[in-house]
Amino acid sequence: MKTFNIRKITWIIIFGFGILLVSVMNSCVESQKVAAKSGAQLWAENCQRCHNTPSPNSFSHEQWVTIGLHMETRAQLTDKEREKIVAFLTQ
Ligand code: HEC
Repeated sequence: MKTFNIRKITWIIIFGFGILLVSVMNSCVESQKVAAKSGAQLWAENCQRCHNTPSPNSFSHEQWVTIGLHMETRAQLTDKEREKIVAFLTQ
């Protein structure tokens, strides 16, 4: 009885790498999608989960910068996403 089949193992390894490669490529596609989102989109998707979205002119530029930092942690945003949202709110 053969207990060690090198061919089978090679195929399993190749198959495993294939799956790994596909999932890595998919995760890149995912982050490109996020990168392609505009500040307005990110704002609409993230800022009304917990409360109504305050309109852009309800706060000054400086206030939005501070609120952005505060809400980045609450909404679990990345720095890039927060920058886009704050840029949208203060344009
Ligand atoms: C996980 C829930 C959550 C998310 C998501 C969230 N917020 Fe908030 N937000 C809060 C809570 C709670 C408060 C009130 C307490 C506070 O100020 O921390 C608040 C308060 C605010 C206020 C009022 C601040 C003030 O001084 O009156 C503004 C403006 C605001 N959020 C904007 C945003 C924006 C913009 C986003 C999107 C980037 C966002 N929030 C996402 C929970 C959230």
